[in-house]
Amino acid sequence: MKNLSNILLNKIGDEISPLTAGPQASHQARLWSIGGGKGGVGKSLVTANVSISLALMGYKVLAVDLDLGGANLHTCLGLPIPEKTLSDFVTKKVKTINELILPSSIKNLSVISGAQDELGMANLKQVHKNEILNALSQVDADIVLMDLGAGTNANTLDFYINSQKGILVVLPEPTSIENAYRFIKSVYFRRLKMIEDLLDIQPLINQASNAKINSGNTPTDLIRKVYDLNPEMGTKLKTEILKFQPQLIINQVRSQTDIDIGFSIKSICKRYFGIEVDYVGYLDYDASVWQSVKKRRPLLLEFPNSRLVTNFDKIVNRLLENT
Ligand SMILES: Nc1ncnc2c1ncn2[C@@H]1O[C@H](COP(=O)(O)OP(=O)(O)O)[C@@H](O)[C@H]1O
Ligand SMILES: [Mg+2]
Repeated sequence: MKNLSNILLNKIGDEISPLTAGPQASHQARLWSIGGGKGGVGKSLVTANVSISLALMGYKVLAVDLDLGGANLHTCLGLPIPEKTLSDFVTKKVKTINELILPSSIKNLSVISGAQDELGMANLKQVHKNEILNALSQVDADIVLMDLGAGTNANTLDFYINSQKGILVVLPEPTSIENAYRFIKSVYFRRLKMIEDLLDIQPLINQASNAKINSGNTPTDLIRKVYDLNPEMGTKLKTEILKFQPQLIINQVRSQTDIDIGFSIKSICKRYFGIEVDYVGYLDYDASVWQSVKKRRPLLLEFPNSRLVTNFDKIVNRLLENT
């Protein structure tokens, strides 16, 4: 396990090393996405600082701003307003996504900024999403982090579903928790639809949905019913469903009660959806966060002694453990 605090205090990399993309990439980059039902919960904070942590640990990282309505990842990373953004790729102003990759001041970390104007991005079609996802998985990076927008629109859900790791940032307050459940539910049912098509079991699912199991049926009951009707397909379905393992982060915690909300969300999701939420850690509420935002400097670099460093250290090592 690499200690982030030691890395930050002893050797902050300042070399610039842009990533290159293309067929020379020796392996597919792993896609991690950062979502959450609500705006302002800390998605960009998490994306920026997990990216920085991984880069300082020696991973080649590309951070991508996919918040189609409120792109500001560049600010969290201490970068100026970008000239080229993802909308240039969608509108074909650039031929390849490589042309959008900008170096950061941190060795191993590069960035693709998000559209500032929504032009071209607002009506992102399926074909564009596929192009972006394909291009990103071929970038010469170990890990590509995608900072997603708020809400549960189809674009956000599709980027989330198509990444190998889906991080979910939640605040310990009722509105954010409510939105988080809505987000998980939306992802769950969109995945279920995909699996239905993949396994060609739509009639079976319909049959199971129509069967009266008992009042207050949950998605877990539905899967159980599918199993009763067809054990082989039921097992396959359950295996696929279990691949959806959101990586939960509770942000802005002020007490043990706040920290414990993560465990409650985990157990409710297990009971209701039958899915494993991995509670990878929490971030303290700390003035260093908004102070660094005001200074337009990355939190970890501006405040290497902040308690958020320990928080991020635990989270990043946990995320890497279950990769
Ligand atoms: N742990 C924290 N402690 C204090 N303030 C925070 C914390 N996390 C986020 N904030 C505040 O919330 C704002 C929104 O965070 P941001 O990452 O931009 O959210 P999102 O990307 O989900 O919209 C930040 O600018 C910061 O002022
Ligand atoms: Mg954001």
